[in-house]
Amino acid sequence: MKTCKHFGECGGCRFQDISYEEQLAEKENRIKELIKNSDLDIKLKPIQYSDPWFYRNKMEFSFADQGDIVCGLYSKNEKGKVVDIEECLIFSKDLKEILKAVKEFVRNKNFSVYNKYSRKGFLRNLIVRDTKFTNELMIGIVTTGCQDLDKEGFVNILEQAKLDNKICSIYWIVNDSLSDAVIFETKHLLYGDKFIKEKLGDFIFQIGIDSFFQVNPKMVAGFYQKMVDYTNVSDDKNVLDLFCGVGSIGIFLSPKAKSVLGVEVSDDIVAVACQNSKINNIHNIKFITADARRFLNLQAEPYKDIDILIINPPRSGLSNKITRAIKRLNPKLILYSSCNPDAFFRDLPSFWENYRADFVEPFDFFPHTPHMECLSILKKIDL
Ligand SMILES: C[S@@+](CC[C@H](N)C(=O)[O-])C[C@H]1O[C@@H](n2cnc3c(N)ncnc32)[C@H](O)[C@@H]1O
Repeated sequence: MKTCKHFGECGGCRFQDISYEEQLAEKENRIKELIKNSDLDIKLKPIQYSDPWFYRNKMEFSFADQGDIVCGLYSKNEKGKVVDIEECLIFSKDLKEILKAVKEFVRNKNFSVYNKYSRKGFLRNLIVRDTKFTNELMIGIVTTGCQDLDKEGFVNILEQAKLDNKICSIYWIVNDSLSDAVIFETKHLLYGDKFIKEKLGDFIFQIGIDSFFQVNPKMVAGFYQKMVDYTNVSDDKNVLDLFCGVGSIGIFLSPKAKSVLGVEVSDDIVAVACQNSKINNIHNIKFITADARRFLNLQAEPYKDIDILIINPPRSGLSNKITRAIKRLNPKLILYSSCNPDAFFRDLPSFWENYRADFVEPFDFFPHTPHMECLSILKKIDL
């Protein structure tokens, strides 16, 4: 069996030593268990899967000073230690050369590395995005603002790297926040385009350095197509896509729908969603920047004729307040999908008073990790 040289030490993948068939069986069993515990009368559809290698389109690595500057992922075994990554079999074949070039650059420059305890130092993270159908790369180095990056030098070393895919965009992100997460305080475009493009089915999507985009493009077109089929969307149906991100689900549904409205909390992401509808020539879709709960409570009145509600929330799932607001909106059909099965099965029963779902369908978007996506269609019951 293929295993990455870092497997066992790197905290990125947990299951590479288990055959893929067994991984899928284990994931199905986990959903069976969740169905059983939820007490819902709901069928389990077979788990959907695709090529389990080189599937991810984005990774964030951390810099650390461990004698030498290293760049990689946190260790599974040693708290705070960064495993100096040289390859990643679930991400991009180009990663090896990119990391080699970046490490050589930062070591030659002798940059300091940010230390979260002393809050001093320069280098923080490296973000790499790699598209699977258009073969484009986007690279972003994240530092504090305590000194200047040799911008030209950074672009030059990346331009010289021998890669299969094409580097289309290079960013320098300045992040002085105390949070461990990458916060895009200032984005300096150093090279190429502001966005890279991915093709899913018949549609092109722009992806920004800070956009949420489903991590497994090899699976996601099929996942969105299932949404089109399961919702039975037609030209008399109004669709609301509540956590719409860059608009992908709504864009897939729009050719068959009467209208689509996407709601997303980030202004920057809404701008990308608008651009996506434009480049795909879609005219019956609109996006607004709003917090989902505030939208439902304060702004949804003009949109109350919603036939199909799409909910694809962040990992944390839905709060009680959102669930209540959704019930007040009273859509005929709800498509609920989540990358967190626990949150999914926590939220599903709260709709049971007015809705029923026949099935849950798992999608293995994240092979070699414990994660998966779940999808259900909730239909309003006659009371
Ligand atoms: C799991 S992603 C789904 C994106 C999109 N449905 C897709 O398939 O690409 C969740 C999205 O919800 C947005 N979001 C997070 N909290 C939100 C909130 N309170 N209100 C509206 N959108 C929110 C995030 O910015 C992110 O784009």
